[in-house]
Amino acid sequence: MSNVSLTRFLLEAQQKGQIDAELRLCITVVSQACRVIANSVNKGALGGVLGDAGTGNIQGEAQKKLDVISNEILLEANAWGGHLAGMASEEMDHSIPVPQHDDDADSRYLLLFDPLDGSSNIDVNISVGTIFSVLKYEGDGTPTDEDYLQPGTKQVAAGYCTYGPSTTLVITVGHGTHAFTLDREIGSFVLTTKNVQIPEETKEFAVNMSNQRFWEKPMQDYVGDMLLGKTGPREKDFNMRWVASMVADVHRIMTRGGIFSYPIDEKVAAKGGKLRLLYEANPMSFLIEQAGGAASTGRGRMLDVQPTGLHQRVPVFLGSKKEVEAAVQYHTDFDNQSK
Ligand code: AHG
Ligand code: MN
Ligand code: MN
Repeated sequence: MSNVSLTRFLLEAQQKGQIDAELRLCITVVSQACRVIANSVNKGALGGVLGDAGTGNIQGEAQKKLDVISNEILLEANAWGGHLAGMASEEMDHSIPVPQHDDDADSRYLLLFDPLDGSSNIDVNISVGTIFSVLKYEGDGTPTDEDYLQPGTKQVAAGYCTYGPSTTLVITVGHGTHAFTLDREIGSFVLTTKNVQIPEETKEFAVNMSNQRFWEKPMQDYVGDMLLGKTGPREKDFNMRWVASMVADVHRIMTRGGIFSYPIDEKVAAKGGKLRLLYEANPMSFLIEQAGGAASTGRGRMLDVQPTGLHQRVPVFLGSKKEVEAAVQYHTDFDNQSK
């Protein structure tokens, strides 16, 4: 194990010119907020943090107490550094501007987050997480929601933190994907995997199979062929995993490969998909690509999607490169036949 702390890692990235002081501060503050969220998650029933908050978010989803608590922890931690121009969250209707305290700041950033991912798992003691994305703010006044509608290729940093058996922070600033583990005894994140590399091929897929009858035909065919195993066209047996926390499913893929998908289905078609482009799909796609994997909507590279709304949803396919290409091929073939 290395003795490289997140602090040292970020300072070295700044020395190499990969990030500036403001972006270093931004990632540091997010990591500190994640430590605080980890403590709340850890206390569980003892901390009175389980259960419903009794409120709903902009997307009509019931909020859990920990959704609200995590959102507040991230907002408060990031409100005073002077490195941000604003923040947007899955749990808030609109972005909020951050007052500029530091006139000397070279650059200012927009921070977007899914404060607590995997809400349905909170009460049953299964891994949950936080996902974040950082964009540059190019304007000089007060940012509005429009300023956040930048394609994923414009992200300058992204990361997620898993609150599981251990607390793991995985980040990218566009120079590889790196994993840190929280050492609770010393109170800091320590680099545990430098340059994560996702295997190109896999025999493991993650999807909510209960939606099968609502999927489009190419998705039906893709998964159907995987289930046929060795004697089918894919000529290998596949295994399936579905945690229902995107962070946990993606973290497994970071560790041993696989494909994660939340495709379009009849139930979510009107909304464009289930997962959110700016808070979930884009940061995860950036991390996956930086680890040698691929990320697609099924019909195009995720990071190229031009966002049209803060809470826009998209179909998601990400993970081992060759497997994502296989999934996309089913969609391409179907679309060509339907022309
Ligand atoms: P969130 O808790 O932030 O709303 O996200 C939940 C997401 C994602 O983490 C997971 O992959 C997916 O929803 C699970 O959906 P199903 O419950 O439909 O399987
Ligand atoms: Mn989520
Ligand atoms: Mn969430």
